Amino acid sequence: MRNGIITGWGKCVPPAVLSNSDLETVTDTSDDWITTRTGIKERRISHVEMSDLSAIAAERAMAAAGVAAEDLDLILVATCSPDRLVPSASTIVQAKIGASNAAGMDLNAACSGFLFALSTADQMIKTGAMHTVLIVGAEKLSHWLDFSNRSTSVLFGDGAGAVIVQAADDQPDRGLLAFEIGSDGTAGDLLCVPASGTEGSADRTELPTFLMEGQEVFRRAVKSMGDASGRVLESAGLDLEDVDLLIPHQANVRIIDATARRLNLPPEKVYINIASYGNTSAATIPIAIVEALEDGKIQPGSVIVFAAFGAGFTWAAGAYRWGARVEALAVSDAELPPNDKTALELLAGNIAIHGTGV
Ligand code: UT7
Repeated sequence: MRNGIITGWGKCVPPAVLSNSDLETVTDTSDDWITTRTGIKERRISHVEMSDLSAIAAERAMAAAGVAAEDLDLILVATCSPDRLVPSASTIVQAKIGASNAAGMDLNAACSGFLFALSTADQMIKTGAMHTVLIVGAEKLSHWLDFSNRSTSVLFGDGAGAVIVQAADDQPDRGLLAFEIGSDGTAGDLLCVPASGTEGSADRTELPTFLMEGQEVFRRAVKSMGDASGRVLESAGLDLEDVDLLIPHQANVRIIDATARRLNLPPEKVYINIASYGNTSAATIPIAIVEALEDGKIQPGSVIVFAAFGAGFTWAAGAYRWGARVEALAVSDAELPPNDKTALELLAGNIAIHGTGV
């Protein structure tokens, strides 16, 4: 049986760091509140476009896989913060990396986007339609930060992660063993960015920013991620004891802890890096994959459970058995252009539009 195996991985996080103490100067918050209520210590603010972060992450993933840009036959970019709605982020990334033989497709499932894309790539590979797929999860959520709203402006950050998924006929028990994707559009208003598309364009008075009913999102995230993870394990014929690592979407460390408790997984089997990046939506899981590999938490044959929840609402989970290789075949020398601004300087435009909360 043909399977899709992750053979390359790369991340690109912009260099400018926005710390909790920086946030204290622009909104009515404290390092203590953010740390204890979310687990976030700092996040990154991009000096370049989201497609630039994506292209560097993609170059690094291609090098790790030993794949050239011309080898790609599909590019899936999971994002809810593309440079432009037209043309798609995936075609912009395609042009930047020179993947002339690929089809490009964007996928907006907010924070669940990477897992929606992984499931799509897996199925396209299993049918034989595609052979080598680049998946990028990338966001520039800083674009919508409004420091007059302390309940959302402390949560989000920018970044990109990418993987290469390749067809393999000789690894029947590897790759995505089972997955679930789901949506509940009736809850759309509980987490949204109003007027971020064409709605209300005739009488628009406000600039887009996040709206979120935090506690309801929290409650639904724990239930959806926990339950979907249990179901994919069952579909894959695996027990909890078989799981080596849970890589959850990183929105709030308390959501992650509660999800792990719901699943009965001990803390040492849960990957958490939210302290460094905050919530980067579709980028959290691919960035976490790269860092879990760097930390030696993923070994050949490791069983990983992925779980995510986000705006829509959307949710997704996957049971994945890692392939034979955990080392990169090569390292790309692709780098972002240099940045000489602080994170707060990069956010001056947001502050000019929305003001601050202090
Ligand atoms: O990626 C998927 C989508 N996002 C999520 O999954 C996020 C889900 N929700 C959450 O993570 C949490 O609900 C939040 C982190 C957003 C909020 O935490 P909470 O424990 O639910 O706080 P809360 O909204 O119940 O607010 C508690 C208090 C309030 O003050 P009062 O009314 O008790 O005086 C808030 O005004 O904390 C206050 N508060 C803050 N204080 C300092 C809210 N935000 C802040 C802040 N700094 N940044």
